[in-house]
Amino acid sequence: MKEVQDFFFRKAKEEGYRARSAYKLIEIDDRRKLLRKGDRVLDLGAAPGSWTQVAAARVGEHGLVVGVDLKAIDPRGLPKWVTLMKADLRDLDASTFGGTYFDAVISDMAPDTSGDPFGDSVRSCHLCQALLDRLPNWLRRGGHSTMKVFEGAEYPELLRRTERLFEDSKGFKPRSSRAESVEMFIVCKGYKGHDAEPAPESRPARRRGWGDEPDDVDRSA
Ligand SMILES: C[S@@+](CC[C@H](N)C(=O)[O-])C[C@H]1O[C@@H](n2cnc3c(N)ncnc32)[C@H](O)[C@@H]1O
Repeated sequence: MKEVQDFFFRKAKEEGYRARSAYKLIEIDDRRKLLRKGDRVLDLGAAPGSWTQVAAARVGEHGLVVGVDLKAIDPRGLPKWVTLMKADLRDLDASTFGGTYFDAVISDMAPDTSGDPFGDSVRSCHLCQALLDRLPNWLRRGGHSTMKVFEGAEYPELLRRTERLFEDSKGFKPRSSRAESVEMFIVCKGYKGHDAEPAPESRPARRRGWGDEPDDVDRSA
């Protein structure tokens, strides 16, 4: 399996991707067709930026990619239809993107692993649930999503929730993901909208918002 990891690591270097995780999104999108030219894409857990690179290439200059991460993402070399935000997903809410509805919400978010697989999986499922809670304000009806999750006790309930919210929802293990890893992706197509489940009673308060990043970030390599 080490050879597979080395293969994707080398390939990412050769092809100018910031991380080998690029090939997971490439495989997911080649198989399930989530991203189209002109789409608006919200990329959660985006640092260091390889999914952002892939999404930006796929949506093209008439699209938009918003990359969000706890860590700052280096804007150099990214096209101008990419916007970056340093934030915790859990601090974002309905107002964050000024009413923009995305065509796709993709997430490679992962909690820092602690060595306790049970706790890591629970934290990963909670991040996915936090994403799903926010979709009524962020994802257009008919839109698509994919989210990374560490499989564990709360995974079946998470999968069931995505099945209620989307026309089609399936677990997917990309070839570039280590076979021994509990990492999975749930790939969801055809968002049914907020009517598919009752609205949560409360949403987290806004701490940092859309437009907080200056427009004049230096993207030169
Ligand atoms: C596997 S990395 C993402 C790799 C990235 N997709 C790429 O291709 O370059 C997981 C990321 O999730 C981010 N993350 C974890 N919890 C988060 C949260 N609550 N809000 C935003 N980002 C989060 C981490 O900071 C980390 O950078």
